Amino acid sequence: MLRPMQVVEAVQRAEAVREFALAPADGRHLDGFAAGAHVECEVRLPDGRSGMRAYSLVNAPGEIDAYRIAVALSGNGRGGSRFMHGLGVGDTIRVGSPRNDFPLVTTATESLLIAGGIGITPILAMARALGGRGAEIHYAGRHRAAMAYADEVAAMPGARLVCDGGDPAKGLDLQALVAGPREGRHLYVCGPRPLIAATLAAARAAGWPDARLHFELFGADDPQAGDRPFTAVFARSGKTAEVPVGRTILEVMEAIGLDPLFDCRRGECGICVTDVIEGEPDHRDMNLSEREKRAGKLICTCVSRAKGERLVLDA
Ligand SMILES: Cc1cc2nc3c(=O)[nH]c(=O)nc-3n(C[C@H](O)[C@H](O)[C@H](O)COP(=O)(O)OP(=O)(O)OC[C@H]3O[C@@H](n4cnc5c(N)ncnc54)[C@H](O)[C@@H]3O)c2cc1C
Ligand code: FES
Repeated sequence: MLRPMQVVEAVQRAEAVREFALAPADGRHLDGFAAGAHVECEVRLPDGRSGMRAYSLVNAPGEIDAYRIAVALSGNGRGGSRFMHGLGVGDTIRVGSPRNDFPLVTTATESLLIAGGIGITPILAMARALGGRGAEIHYAGRHRAAMAYADEVAAMPGARLVCDGGDPAKGLDLQALVAGPREGRHLYVCGPRPLIAATLAAARAAGWPDARLHFELFGADDPQAGDRPFTAVFARSGKTAEVPVGRTILEVMEAIGLDPLFDCRRGECGICVTDVIEGEPDHRDMNLSEREKRAGKLICTCVSRAKGERLVLDA
């Protein structure tokens, strides 16, 4: 349920990152939340329609009078972050209850926290919650002025900041970070998709079990150069449709009246996974294992596409 919240504080935290404190306009208590949680904010887009955008809570433990979020301005987005950056103290927006798909594991004895860019938001909340207990924090960004909360993170015990100037090769030494997948050690990573993918690949190669790897993606992929339209055949429902560039199989399924299951819409949760009967998937998700991807019998319809001209799915 969405409830009206008032902006009670707006502070610049980095070159393109603004932090907002949102307090209930009705004066009632906030719903509870833990580190890693996010809230959905209703935004008005340039075409006049409204949409929802998720923002992680950066609240420190015990800070329960307002939701604190930090929003990076996305230059090539559809306008949600631009709307958020236009908010000032006294403005009211509608906000959902906190949801946590990226919680800290309470039984962990060590936490390896890795953030890139605006991915620092849930990682900061985790670092604040852990208060240095068994935590190691690695935070990468282009340059210091672009990195929100850089001074606070740098002052935390076990923290290291890396400025890569936009070249990931000069960034975090992931192989070194993930060495030693000891029992009780959990890894949390949030940031750009390539950082998450490289971290998970390095960790798996070093012997980390998936149960101790945790990540959160902030969005689906941009269309890639070379993307082509293809035909999707939905065998069980007897329907066929074109999947154009810039639209997902899932969106097309909804448009032709199917009722597909989904949740995250960014290739993370696996709820949309569908059996492939024929054709070769072009996997873009972070859910299926490398072995499942190689086998080519499953596809995340919310992000993945077809390598050929036709894909037949069991839907
Ligand atoms: C769980 C979660 C937590 C998040 N936490 C934060 C946070 O703490 N801080 C924060 O700043 N953001 C966070 N985000 C991201 C945030 O919700 C918005 O996606 C972000 O603010 C950009 O919104 P936008 O409308 O400006 O851009 P969007 O329109 O959402 O665009 C974002 C990206 O998608 C691409 N894109 C745009 N249109 C399309 C299209 N039709 N097809 C394919 N790609 C397209 C754009 O090129 C751009 O790179 C979070 C997201 C999630 C899911
Ligand atoms: S809806 Fe979550 S992976 Fe597709």
